[in-house]
Amino acid sequence: MDKLLVHGGTTLRGAVNISGSKNASLPILAAALLTDEDCIIRRVPDVSDTNYMVQILNALGADVERSSGTVRATCADISDTAPYELVRRMRASICVMGPLLARKRRAVVSLPGGCVIGDRPVDLHLRGLEALGAKVEFEGGNIILTAPDGLRGAEINLSGPLGPTVLGTDNVMMAATLAEGITVIESAAAEPEVLDLANFLNAMGAKIEGAGTSRIVIEGVERLHGVEHTVIPDRIEAGTFMAAAALAGDGVTLRRVCREHLKSITAAIEASGHTVEFNAAGDACTIRRGENLTGCNLVTAPYPGYPTDMQAQMTALLATTPGISVIKDTIFPQRFMHCAELKRMGADIKVDNGTAIVRGVEKLSAAPVMASDLRASAALVLAALTATGTTAINRLYHIDRGYEHIDEKLLMLGAAVERVKE
Ligand code: EPU
Repeated sequence: MDKLLVHGGTTLRGAVNISGSKNASLPILAAALLTDEDCIIRRVPDVSDTNYMVQILNALGADVERSSGTVRATCADISDTAPYELVRRMRASICVMGPLLARKRRAVVSLPGGCVIGDRPVDLHLRGLEALGAKVEFEGGNIILTAPDGLRGAEINLSGPLGPTVLGTDNVMMAATLAEGITVIESAAAEPEVLDLANFLNAMGAKIEGAGTSRIVIEGVERLHGVEHTVIPDRIEAGTFMAAAALAGDGVTLRRVCREHLKSITAAIEASGHTVEFNAAGDACTIRRGENLTGCNLVTAPYPGYPTDMQAQMTALLATTPGISVIKDTIFPQRFMHCAELKRMGADIKVDNGTAIVRGVEKLSAAPVMASDLRASAALVLAALTATGTTAINRLYHIDRGYEHIDEKLLMLGAAVERVKE
């Protein structure tokens, strides 16, 4: 198992390229199951979650090749059963359910277990697929979906107690592309990753309108064809580097970003006193650490609100920002595991009922810490950049799930980080 040693106190400078989006790549790779023709997907980040998805496609019988960020997937002759051994490793594997059901009229996928950031049920995914005519059964830890006569369009409201569902919207949208008639998804997730998937599906011949808003209309078609597509930039990786630059930088430029997707994150970084300057095209930005810093209040919300996937990293930034910050996670109210570890580094944080109250301290100090999930581990890396001494971040595999070559990118910016084997 690898761990990361971060020697705190160096200053970040220079430029870094942001990778393609993990959370757009995962459903797009799954969508290749909807056609027997070749799909070529570019800028798929080389992270373990996309590797799991490639392995799942392989296990389903697809022919998949991967080189330098490009994945070619041909799903000519596929089975309807996703193997538990692979599915259990990644919750996002659930997004093969919609495409398998649409293509094979049957899908067997294991029911995802609990997860450190919350319960993460799949009731909304199933409600949507049931509305399209699928029969849902549970057996031996598996969800078995069947629709022997095919799926039929329907009006579906995907709103849940904690808002819309991203992968649930993806699953229903993918299934509906091959259903007979028109499907309307109300309270759909409007995240840029859902729009990227819809663009991929439309390029395959699907008829989807309204993706990127809370109402998506899909007119079913008989078949989809092969396609070439380039995945959007990873707005959460970009946000993480923005926070790193604000914490420890002296002018850091991020290339290959999308200004539009970064509005709420930019606003939060600016509200705490730093500056973010985009180029005219909006595809690069430079972050400068501010001189008059101040705590701020943040509430996570579905897009275009502040993303839950950037909550932990912003908490790390605010831990050493003067003043009091209040951070509320309305999407995953239990997603505060990083706070206990930040406290071990000297942060002053109280967590209660889905809200963290952070009193900014002058400096954190190094300590051995444990990564608990992907974004929590990113937060620990950020905190370690300015802490006094060397922080050892254990269980680095969490960060490798979603950040492409994070240690190399940080090294290029001047951080002193080392990946070591335990
Ligand atoms: N929910 C339900 N029922 C469902 C599905 C979701 O109640 O059937 C609840 C969840 O428990 C949560 C809320 O609805 O409280 C939103 O969850 P959502 O379904 O949108 O999450 P997801 O689609 O499983 C994706 C991202 C997550 C990100 C969330 C929220 C991918 C692969 N994952 O998950 O990303 O936190 O949306 O934006 O796209 C990450 O990258 O670190 C990550 C966890």
